Amino acid sequence: MSSDPVKSAPRPIRVLQAGYGAFGAQHAKGWRGCRPAVELAIADPSPEARARATADHPGLRIVADWRELLADCDVVDAVAPSTLNASIALEAMAAGRDVFIEKPVGRTIAEARDVAAAATRLGRRMQVGFVLRFHPLARRLHEVLRGGSLGRLRWISGEFLCLKRPRRDAGVVLNDAVHFLDLILWLKGEAPASVQAMMEDGLGRGFEDLVLSTLRWGDGTLGRLDASCVVAGEAPDPYAPPGGWSRKTLEFAGERGRAIADFMSGTLTLRDARHERDGDGWRQVVAAPATSTYPSESITPLITAELSAFVAGAPGGATIADGLLIAEVCEAMFRSARERRAIEVSGP
Ligand SMILES: NC(=O)c1ccc[n+]([C@@H]2O[C@H](COP(=O)([O-])OP(=O)(O)OC[C@H]3O[C@@H](n4cnc5c(N)ncnc54)[C@H](O)[C@@H]3O)[C@@H](O)[C@H]2O)c1
Repeated sequence: MSSDPVKSAPRPIRVLQAGYGAFGAQHAKGWRGCRPAVELAIADPSPEARARATADHPGLRIVADWRELLADCDVVDAVAPSTLNASIALEAMAAGRDVFIEKPVGRTIAEARDVAAAATRLGRRMQVGFVLRFHPLARRLHEVLRGGSLGRLRWISGEFLCLKRPRRDAGVVLNDAVHFLDLILWLKGEAPASVQAMMEDGLGRGFEDLVLSTLRWGDGTLGRLDASCVVAGEAPDPYAPPGGWSRKTLEFAGERGRAIADFMSGTLTLRDARHERDGDGWRQVVAAPATSTYPSESITPLITAELSAFVAGAPGGATIADGLLIAEVCEAMFRSARERRAIEVSGP
């Protein structure tokens, strides 16, 4: 990296947040939690959004065009619609700013590759908004998987199913499946070698609202990941717009144990479960399950933790390389659905 304004600035880091919509409002709360290390300004072309930002955060600089304050910031936080975030990131990095970009990195693989290449070429620090990594349940799951108590992984299953307002900027692959895809890649430690997916646009809005997918890793681990914004889960979702009902369950089975993480209740159920040789066959050995709870009723502390890690240059957040790899997997899913066959995932 040629220079590092995030790490070396002696004064508060000046963050310019581009976008104050539903999730931008959450980001601003997250940034306020980073005070006094951070000084926030907000840009949004919508007068209604600016009025909301002014009411929520009196005293902040709030402008219509984020470029107005580009010269006065160290970091740009791109939390506008995902149709715009890649271009905001490219322009901000070209001006010498580090960038936090909300997921997905781009709406197309070409955009994601452009952003990742620019970050490398220009030596800019980037982090991608995959906030679930900062959920206490995800962090515990990470310890369990890294600790190796499950043994060699055989099977991974993710269900990210919601009935909620369908977004206008992309479908459920880029909006919903990506959250668990990021966790799966982070927890497994590598991307699948190939994927196969089916998608449907039942609402007829031009984006998939239902995806079923299977994933195959080079070491023989098999996985599946389903996501939807039209399938109601069992629990009211505090992270989705009011009225959303979700099921967000991530499961792992290894040669020695099982882990079931329920992100709606914050519970993690672990149990030893394995085969032992028995003559020329096998017998199963299964212990009682142990359940612990890692709740997070509000997303704000998770976002503050995510943004704090970014400004501190601390590990734990999704890097731009992680974001690009997820974009490659999503691209393979889209191709698979179009061509109705398994597709190999391109490397970074
Ligand atoms: N990590 C998560 O859990 C999560 C959850 C929801 C949304 N998101 C992501 O956050 C981003 C924003 O989502 P949202 O729900 O807030 O969308 P939204 O549509 O509610 O809000 C987008 C805001 O951006 C503003 N905007 C439009 N053009 C702009 C520009 N040129 N500069 C600055 N602002 C501009 C709009 O006026 C609007 O206020 C998307 O990338 C989305 O995928 C992430």
